[in-house]
Amino acid sequence: MNTQTVKNIDWANLGFGYIKTDYRFVSNFKDGKWDEGALITDENIVMNECACVLQYAQTCFEGMKAYRTVDNKVVCFRPDLNAKRMADSCSYLEMPVFPEDRFVDAVVETVKKNIDYVPPYGSGASLYIRPYMFGINPVMGVKPASEFQFRIFTSPVGPYFKKGLKPITLRIPDFDRAAPHGSGHIKAGLNYAMSLHPIVDAHRQGFNENMYLDSATRTKVEETGGANIIFVTGDNTVVTPKSSTILPSITRRSLMYVAEHYLGLKTEEREVPFAEVKDFKECAVCGTAAVLSPVGKVVDHGKEILFPSGMEKPGEITQKLYELLTGIQLGTVKAPDGWIKVIQE
Ligand code: PLP
Ligand code: COI
Repeated sequence: MNTQTVKNIDWANLGFGYIKTDYRFVSNFKDGKWDEGALITDENIVMNECACVLQYAQTCFEGMKAYRTVDNKVVCFRPDLNAKRMADSCSYLEMPVFPEDRFVDAVVETVKKNIDYVPPYGSGASLYIRPYMFGINPVMGVKPASEFQFRIFTSPVGPYFKKGLKPITLRIPDFDRAAPHGSGHIKAGLNYAMSLHPIVDAHRQGFNENMYLDSATRTKVEETGGANIIFVTGDNTVVTPKSSTILPSITRRSLMYVAEHYLGLKTEEREVPFAEVKDFKECAVCGTAAVLSPVGKVVDHGKEILFPSGMEKPGEITQKLYELLTGIQLGTVKAPDGWIKVIQE
């Protein structure tokens, strides 16, 4: 058991924002290879004005969390899957893969160096871990960089949606998130740039997030700007959209497993016509940042779909899934083999 203290932060009132911690991991790719990397204290990056990331957005990232468990260990959740997804993102963006085993080791070392920022068990907060990579050398013609930087920083965070487990409202936007044969399935910074105007517009109109439809036909549910979506049918089947243009959420894949193996529910990953949404009894968005946030209402150009679970509390299955997922992460529920990586005993 570790005897580490935690920083004096008001954990209960922490939002989802950047707070500088003491160390970050940095490794540089030059002359065709990654250097050994180092943990440094300087949070600033100096780069050329014509760096590829600044001109042509050659960058991708990952998001994961470290938790303090009920028995005061520090752990993180399925980092091998983030390493794999980052490798997929890098390949698509013509960037060199940071080896997956080194990715996991670097995450562990970065969290260890910032261990006092891992919030106490029961606080509801966690230490967000942000690995990312970008093309750093100057590039004028449209082509990939040849030099890259891989970094990991951490930041203590609270809930992504201020309302916590209070249901949120999604709206159907007039904007698309990802093109049919584009980059929707990877975690490229450019996907999030595309979502900035739609999210600001949604907030301006009083909605929490956008529920994007497939851009080819605008008839099928995809995901939100930063989370996948799950639905529950009247007979308790957990349904999630299948699409080649959404990000394969690790939280969603885990929730589907938990629904099937811990709750004994039927699960379906399939196309979800928007026309079917009114028939579901529960809806929630899921992701590392969002965890599992209930959706009470979807608004399609003035037409409201209010789920039977309502705007006051999560639906019954959403609540159970939330408790199981967070229980697995915090050590109160037995995890499937290989899901929990212990960072500090
Ligand atoms: N979809 C998008 C667009 C995201 O940005 C995220 C966040 O990472 C997710 C889904 C959820 O993925 P994960 O559960 O792996 O964090
Ligand atoms: C995450 O859940 O880790 C995300 O990256 C979502 C959002 C903060 C972009």
